[in-house]
Amino acid sequence: MDDKAIADVPVAYKKIWEATEELQFNMASDLLTGSLLKTLVASKPSGRLLELGTGTGLATSWMVDGMDEGTKLVTIDNNKVLVDIARDALQNARVEFVLADGYEWIQNYRGEKFDLIFADAIPGKYELLEETIGLVKRGGFYVIDDMLPQPNWPEGHANRVERFIEELEKRKDVLLTKLNWSTGIIIVTKLK
Ligand SMILES: C[S@@+](CC[C@H](N)C(=O)[O-])C[C@H]1O[C@@H](n2cnc3c(N)ncnc32)[C@H](O)[C@@H]1O
Repeated sequence: MDDKAIADVPVAYKKIWEATEELQFNMASDLLTGSLLKTLVASKPSGRLLELGTGTGLATSWMVDGMDEGTKLVTIDNNKVLVDIARDALQNARVEFVLADGYEWIQNYRGEKFDLIFADAIPGKYELLEETIGLVKRGGFYVIDDMLPQPNWPEGHANRVERFIEELEKRKDVLLTKLNWSTGIIIVTKLK
């Protein structure tokens, strides 16, 4: 099996990738992560989805492709240049692009919980984990990538990742599987 032979790349992906390269944005999610997200999203018909860290919309494009007509996605980033690229390329009424600080958004959100959260920014992952996991419905997924060493990791980040994984593994309200695949993925299912 060649796991990198991916035939169903989203139509919007090429345009977004070109803009991503032009910007030299070096925190982009990879194709494998995108493909996994699409498959997980499709398991949540009429679902409510949250992405923390839209970037230029690469992972967003995969999530959109996994959504049925009743599913809605909220995606958050604090960088207007990136959000504008994602919004322009995807133009989808079922996606709410929110230009906001993730710390504030997570702490102020009072709406319905989510069936799947892709946490791809510091807030919602290394910080405000408790609050963010608290936004996942019972049976819902919390998905994170970049758990394996990445070229853009700053000094000391490896220790932070190790502590974060230990913290997740101690929790009694989740089941999780660690995948040494793509950039290092953890799929977490919420039990309560
Ligand atoms: C790893 S990148 C996201 C990549 C994206 N998911 C993709 O598919 O390519 C992390 C993103 O988090 C955003 N970010 C960083 N700090 C943030 C904050 N405090 N609030 C909201 N977004 C933030 C950055 O602008 C960046 O786009």
